[in-house]
Amino acid sequence: MGRRWLWPWKALALILLIAVNAHAASTIKVGVAGPLTGDQATLGQELKGGAIIAVEEWNAKGGLLGRKIEIVWGDDQHDPRQAVAVANKFVNEGVVGVIGHFNSSCSIPASTIYRDGKVVQLTPASTNPQFTERGLWNVFRVCGRDDQQGGVAANFIVRKLQKRRIAVLHDKTTYGQGLADETVKALEKAKIKPVYYGGVTQGEKDFRPVLTAVRLSDPEVLFYGGIYPEAILLTKQMRELGMKTVFMSGDGVWAKAFIDIAGKAAEGSFITFTPDQTKIKEAQEVIRRHKEKFGTEVGAYTVYSYVAATLLFEAIATTQSTDSIKIADHIRRTKWKTALGPIQFDKKGDVLVSPYVIWEVKDGKFVELQ
Ligand code: ALA
Repeated sequence: MGRRWLWPWKALALILLIAVNAHAASTIKVGVAGPLTGDQATLGQELKGGAIIAVEEWNAKGGLLGRKIEIVWGDDQHDPRQAVAVANKFVNEGVVGVIGHFNSSCSIPASTIYRDGKVVQLTPASTNPQFTERGLWNVFRVCGRDDQQGGVAANFIVRKLQKRRIAVLHDKTTYGQGLADETVKALEKAKIKPVYYGGVTQGEKDFRPVLTAVRLSDPEVLFYGGIYPEAILLTKQMRELGMKTVFMSGDGVWAKAFIDIAGKAAEGSFITFTPDQTKIKEAQEVIRRHKEKFGTEVGAYTVYSYVAATLLFEAIATTQSTDSIKIADHIRRTKWKTALGPIQFDKKGDVLVSPYVIWEVKDGKFVELQ
């Protein structure tokens, strides 16, 4: 019989390959990267939800430059090395822009790869100042910065709570330690030195030894720079140890999971984050569509992710180009009307206005303090 029976299959495989390639070439690829799996996957879901809604909206209008938009997912699992691998993959796949990453520890190392690969990067959530302080032309952040956030936290501790004995813990990441240090800097302006300062390791489960050391310093407030999985354990174990210390943290802890899992231990905690998005009139439509599509409320950074994607798409549509220099210039020059209200970027890629407010966990909910 020989091998003759094989050739129709080979021909079919060839046709399929050509078809797949033709489809790939006919789409505009955009990278979306964050902790899509792992212990911070809830944050990745926020990023995902916002990006999906933006892409569906634009594809329903016909896509970009006559082509459909295709999301290429990048799961960095909040690991900087994984983020670099994702960035290289995105550049090799020819994405026109990246929405992400989520964690500063990932966004920052990835950003230089995007710069070299001529890819515009818009982070919805990375708040460490270094993301935009290194003079990169290709970076934008839709959220605020930890030098602002830390200042607001310190001001609240000193003026509103009128506390002076502050313990500071962080998770040794770019974001966590960065935010802790910005808060310490701002406290020092009020002549307050932390009674305790130290780091914990992400992924650890038993914080009782470090909390016992913290307790010895007799703090009134424990400020934690980090993300919600560790904050859950810290608050629970603090209360188990009988500590009444006020718990305070930043945007990385503004997550429903923090309240749901820490339960009573989270009550009375204070968290810095941006003002209530559900009160922004321009955000209503995205919030409604998110509920309709996913059956859940938006998370802290869902609308930010939607806005980041929308700015990228608008810039491509207006410049009629996938040239990253042109896209970046357009994003920088434009006064945007977005689902978060008006946005404008400075030369570095930071938003001109990004207020932080204090939220309190009250009766199992985040409540914005006036
Ligand atoms: N704002 C947090 C970060 O920068 C999520 O990592």
